[in-house]
Amino acid sequence: MDFSKPVTEIIKERKSNRTYSGKPLEKKLREKVIVLLENHDLKSPFSDYAGKARFQLLSIPEFDPKEKRKLGTYGIIKGAQDFIVGVVEKSQYDREHFGYLLETIILALTDLGLGTCWLGGTFNKSLFSEKINCSSDEILPAITPVGHSVQKSIREKMIRSFAKADERLPWEKLFFDGNLSVPITKAKLGIYTALLEMIQAGPSAGNRQPWRIIKSPNKNNFHFYTTNPKDGRFLHYSKFRPLDIGIVVCHFDLTANDLDVKGDWVVKDPQIPNTENLLYKITWEEKMN
Ligand SMILES: Cc1cc2nc3c(=O)[nH]c(=O)nc-3n(C[C@H](O)[C@H](O)[C@H](O)COP(=O)(O)O)c2cc1C
Repeated sequence: MDFSKPVTEIIKERKSNRTYSGKPLEKKLREKVIVLLENHDLKSPFSDYAGKARFQLLSIPEFDPKEKRKLGTYGIIKGAQDFIVGVVEKSQYDREHFGYLLETIILALTDLGLGTCWLGGTFNKSLFSEKINCSSDEILPAITPVGHSVQKSIREKMIRSFAKADERLPWEKLFFDGNLSVPITKAKLGIYTALLEMIQAGPSAGNRQPWRIIKSPNKNNFHFYTTNPKDGRFLHYSKFRPLDIGIVVCHFDLTANDLDVKGDWVVKDPQIPNTENLLYKITWEEKMN
């Protein structure tokens, strides 16, 4: 994916936008979005463990007037006319792969000056599934509206304040050195500080930030996990956590490429003691020269 500026700037710029101008995308912009989707290689560090994904730009005018009311965005999204909708074949890492891919698209749309908002829950899944012809071998994990965002309404400000959308967990709750009892210190990390900061800036469902990263001692290898609470109150989020980790793997990967930090993604559980309450996902290993 080519961006017009450093990806770290785009990651910091991206925010969930829930209020849109009410106007469809202009022809030129529509074309740019379509080209962006057509030219995407649809690859991610999870590709070897995931089925095929596909994404489409869907416009409100394609829906009949009765259906408009059934978009199911429950008053949370206002004025959106266009949506990016995607599906992925059911597979081991389907949601992680989808999370990575939709985030690359969202960052590219942010780079074009467009507003977006990850929607994993508050939309009418059956309607959008029908529009993209989602087959029984595929799932539709999330969509995003895309358009010109307008000044945040009181409604949107309330949603953001309720979700504490501008806050993130402190560094020591997310990043660890060797094991979960040792928080990582920025001083030792050098360029990797920037990479971890891009993880911390990531969006997540309900802003729950379920990512936990453990660095190998004395090596720049980073093991990516999600929390895995068994408590019934959080079960609802278990289908979003794989998307959330896909998103931050995307931030780490794109930032590493931008900063020319070389490494490889591998799925190889390092079996770190006392991680039984987490779910291991993937590891980034520094490439040694
Ligand atoms: C996988 C995923 C699913 C989400 N689903 C919804 C949703 O259904 N409705 C909604 O209003 N926001 C949704 N969000 C947006 C989050 O609430 C938002 O990313 C978080 O509060 C942080 O705010 P920010 O995106 O402005 O940084 C979702 C985000 C992610 C990553």
